[in-house]
Amino acid sequence: MKRIENIAHRGASAVCPENTMVAFERSLELGATGIETDVQLSSDGRLVLIHDETLSRTAGAEGWVKDKSFEELRNLDAGAWFHADFAGERIPSLDELFDLVRGKDILLNLELKNGIISYKGMEEKIIQAIRDWDMEQQVILSSFNHASLVRCKRLAPEIRTALLYMEKLYRPYDYAARLEASALHPYKQAVTREEVAAALAQGIATHPFTINDLAKMQELIDMGVKGIITDVPDVLAALTAVH
Ligand code: G3P
Ligand code: CA
Repeated sequence: MKRIENIAHRGASAVCPENTMVAFERSLELGATGIETDVQLSSDGRLVLIHDETLSRTAGAEGWVKDKSFEELRNLDAGAWFHADFAGERIPSLDELFDLVRGKDILLNLELKNGIISYKGMEEKIIQAIRDWDMEQQVILSSFNHASLVRCKRLAPEIRTALLYMEKLYRPYDYAARLEASALHPYKQAVTREEVAAALAQGIATHPFTINDLAKMQELIDMGVKGIITDVPDVLAALTAVH
């Protein structure tokens, strides 16, 4: 049986500050086979990894990510909010994460955080970075902004895409096929056994998010999902080890 992808949501975000290098590194130690992270653009056009569009929750500053230069973002502390032990962690650049996982058997799920902010040129920049690092086979791009994923697919047919969605969609596998997406990334409540099977029959994987509960993980594996996005990769690794 092919492995169930164990995709660490923002890294090992249950035990480390989300979307930091320490969280990514720790997730690999805990058994993740993939990493999910959120990509935004600094005001001077650098790809950075942070979930919220604003800085207050995880970077201890006011204002928007999009309005700060890369240097300004790098001077913020992305770890102290979580615990004093992590003070000094930085907002990573996408390049740093590529450097960590490139050439390893690790799936990299880059979520384009372009639902609220429409970052001009983001698709081109992210594709250029993926190609520069020869990461085409390792990356899967996802977004709640499906038009952006279509744009990515037009620019780079060789890079996989995954549709993020919160509510149930009508025949999501047919919709994904039309958009040439390789995977569905539904909220955990929007998954059914029939849809997982119908998607698989079209070669489309299902990777629901964000599942931290052992029983729910087992239920989804029994439904046939090909991966799970989780804050606790150690829990999923323990479960899949006994399969
Ligand atoms: O990729 C799944 C999940 O990360 C989407 O929601 O808000 O955690 O980015 P969010
Ligand atoms: Ca995300």
